[in-house]
Amino acid sequence: MTNTNDALPGRPISFWLDTTPRTKFPPLPDNVSVDVAVVGGGLAGLTAATLLKEAGQTVAVLEMGHIAQGVTGYTTAKITSLHTLIYDYLIRHFGEEKARAYADANQAAIEQIAALVTRRNIACDFTRTEAYTYAEIEDDVNPLEAEVKAAARLGLPAALTYETPLPFPVAAAVRFDGQARFHPRKYLLALAQDLPGEGSHIFEGTRVLDIVEDEPCRITTDKGTVTARDVVIASHFPFGDKALYAARLSPHRSYVVGVRLDGPVPPGMFISSGESPHTIRSHPWEAGELVMVGGEGHKTGQGGDTVARYQRLEAWARERFPVRSVEYRWSTQDNRTIDRVPYVGRANPTTKHLYVATGFGGWGMTGSTVAGMLLRDRILSRENPWADLYDPNRLTLEGVPQFVKENVNIATHFIGDRLARGESPDLAPGEGAVVETEQGKTAMYRAEDGTTVHTFSPVCTHMGCIVDWNPAEKSWDCPCHGSRFAADGKLIHGPAVKDLEPKSS
Ligand code: FES
Repeated sequence: MTNTNDALPGRPISFWLDTTPRTKFPPLPDNVSVDVAVVGGGLAGLTAATLLKEAGQTVAVLEMGHIAQGVTGYTTAKITSLHTLIYDYLIRHFGEEKARAYADANQAAIEQIAALVTRRNIACDFTRTEAYTYAEIEDDVNPLEAEVKAAARLGLPAALTYETPLPFPVAAAVRFDGQARFHPRKYLLALAQDLPGEGSHIFEGTRVLDIVEDEPCRITTDKGTVTARDVVIASHFPFGDKALYAARLSPHRSYVVGVRLDGPVPPGMFISSGESPHTIRSHPWEAGELVMVGGEGHKTGQGGDTVARYQRLEAWARERFPVRSVEYRWSTQDNRTIDRVPYVGRANPTTKHLYVATGFGGWGMTGSTVAGMLLRDRILSRENPWADLYDPNRLTLEGVPQFVKENVNIATHFIGDRLARGESPDLAPGEGAVVETEQGKTAMYRAEDGTTVHTFSPVCTHMGCIVDWNPAEKSWDCPCHGSRFAADGKLIHGPAVKDLEPKSS
């Protein structure tokens, strides 16, 4: 029987969303023409739009819901080039030149954010701090030593340390100096405020249905049409899939609890190395400092009892910190690429005007900012030394084993899920399940009032996998490419573009 989330502590809302106002940009009124259309109003889309507008382009940001409220609203918002352990891997698999490009790009992203904060005087709690990747056991120390060596060789501000500000012992840690943290929504809402005007726009509540590349490109939405010379797809998962992104991206969810401590809050940002990493950082709030502890990651739609994941995360935090209370809880989703480097650039090998930014693998603050800078340069035909490394159409052998593994996993959910789960459970209020009815497999949700029952086809409207009920978030999550639907079947985010199909029970 699925666990219920009624007993979970903390308010089920992201701290970032809870401490900033909602946005109210208008929907697309009719037809609009701009230089560049940007699909998706998260950090990648808004950064690209901001930098393009600064460079004299007119832009239109098209957002299905509200800007800075999708994946960006649920991040832990670490602005760092310390991506757990990656530089030793990059040197071994991509060579030193490309590893240096990755290091330079992510360090430049930190400085780009700092420059925008200063130039526009943005009050977003931007603070320089150290970032650490730590190991709790001796067996995990060797990879840290290799990482420090690799990072230092690439010119990064790296050092090996055996002490951290954490209140529990570590075996060793990689420390990067001069990194930063901020409030991502305060930052983005300030950027967004400056975007509309002089031929540029933000349109919320505008769902993109189709993109045709031409001269100019035509973007069909549920409100009207946008024509643009170039299009940036920054909607988390690329829209339209001529380059097989569905086979090259792996969506993952992870969980965060925001806790108040009895005692001092450790300065810095932390992530553990090893198979199941935990992440820690703090942020100022009305009651002092909120400590965010994240972890319990899993592939989307394959998390099993997600309520238990919050419970394990809380227990992990209580074992290591003097937790007085749990104030918040939320979860987030990241796409990983098969070779660990994001896809930023032309969407497919033949396109001239269609660009993507995706696959930030949990490092979206710097990754999205790199994407914004790189896409500005690509669109304006400027040289950029990071372009080859990030090219979505790169041919590398590095990701082949992961590619095979991912697609075996996806195939299992096309075939296996259609044959699984036959019984019809007695659903409690607020619970959902895929059940067998006379009409065949049905996604069924009993609303909190106990009487209203919503029923849908459980077939994901992207490519036909069977969705899975997520009890902690009360959503239908697709185990193949990570589309998510609310309990009432409405699309939360793609790659699907349509709601689940209603069905009579
Ligand atoms: Fe691709 Fe569901 S997200 S089939």
